[in-house]
Amino acid sequence: MIDYSNIQSTSAEPEASSMIETFRAIGYSVETAIADIIDNSITAGAKNIWIDYDWKGSNTTLSILDDGTGMNNEQLIQAMRPGSRNPLEERSSNDLGRFGLGLKTASFSQSRKFTVFSKAKGYRPVFWTWDLDYVN
Ligand SMILES: Nc1ncnc2c1ncn2[C@@H]1O[C@H](COP(=O)(O)OP(=O)(O)OP(=O)(O)O)[C@@H](O)[C@H]1O
Ligand SMILES: [Mg+2]
Repeated sequence: MIDYSNIQSTSAEPEASSMIETFRAIGYSVETAIADIIDNSITAGAKNIWIDYDWKGSNTTLSILDDGTGMNNEQLIQAMRPGSRNPLEERSSNDLGRFGLGLKTASFSQSRKFTVFSKAKGYRPVFWTWDLDYVN
């Protein structure tokens, strides 16, 4: 690898709102978006998954609930980060995830705002929301 220690470098952070608008263009359908989120529930050991929706045009709401292990606050914040896990990282054989992106890309493909509520054993319930209009 090149030694960059004596070469000028600068920060080129991804621009959050542009990156997220780009995620919205990844070719998900409602079905594949829901499937990607259900993958996460299965990986989390869920025995039951409940899908509820209220089709009301642009005011449609859809929720996916599972009884898997859940996440504590720290884990949920990490889960909400695009690229939450490195694809090169080794995962257990029953983990359906790979890119650390599915939750975010699937959700943003269908809406400009999504919330994840979670409760892990021994921790208080937590929730965090991504709101693309706020980010913009
Ligand atoms: N329903 C859930 N229950 C518990 N943990 C979850 C749940 N959904 C997501 N997570 C956690 O959030 C992380 C991020 O999920 P995300 O779908 O974005 O990426 P991934 O599943 O790791 O990889 P991929 O991009 O291939 O789906 C998961 O690795 C998991 O740790
Ligand atoms: Mg996933």
